Amino acid sequence: MLSIIVAVAENNVIGKDNDLIWHLPRDLKHFKETTRGHYIIMGRKTFESNGRPLPNRTNVVITRDKNYSAEGCIVVHTLEEAIKEAQSDSEAFIIGGGKIYELALPLVDRIYLTKIHHSFEGDTYFPEIDMANWVVTDKRDFEADEKNEYPFSILVLDRKKV
Ligand SMILES: NC(=O)c1ccc[n+]([C@@H]2O[C@H](COP(=O)([O-])OP(=O)(O)OC[C@H]3O[C@@H](n4cnc5c(N)ncnc54)[C@H](OP(=O)(O)O)[C@@H]3O)[C@@H](O)[C@H]2O)c1
Repeated sequence: MLSIIVAVAENNVIGKDNDLIWHLPRDLKHFKETTRGHYIIMGRKTFESNGRPLPNRTNVVITRDKNYSAEGCIVVHTLEEAIKEAQSDSEAFIIGGGKIYELALPLVDRIYLTKIHHSFEGDTYFPEIDMANWVVTDKRDFEADEKNEYPFSILVLDRKKV
């Protein structure tokens, strides 16, 4: 199974200046719990934005640069190659960024979608999700609190069977 995990603003923004915009520890906890022990597949920019391989996961980085190396990561040159690397995993996760989400959206079975109920200025967007193709199978709402500045919802979208 191949899944996307992403946090998007009300206006579909996901990042700015190669960084995340918001700080929501409750959503980070959800990310960690959901992806722990699994393959995580990311673009080279997202990897560099993280600054290191994320622990307790197999990190796969996609780049066109044949000379690129990243300690503690598997480096590949196409999304297809990344998916092949992860094929032994019961669920592999596409963790961004914008470019890689765009390539992966037509291929994934599930989207873990954190919707932040706020709009932000940014330079990277999640592609439009055509809800005709997806069913919401789970939704949890979280209020803002002293540690989480914005309210958000975590949805699970499963691709409709044809
Ligand atoms: N909100 C969220 O959930 C979330 C999650 C992740 C990231 N982000 C944000 O997203 C932003 C980064 O996204 P981005 O779109 O700029 O970059 P990205 O998708 O992380 O990485 C883009 C890079 O991936 C490689 N790549 C892209 N298409 C490729 C292809 N077809 N074949 C081989 N390699 C390919 C290229 O690397 P080379 O240039 O090395 O060839 C390209 O520069 C940051 O702001 C980050 O904070 C947000």
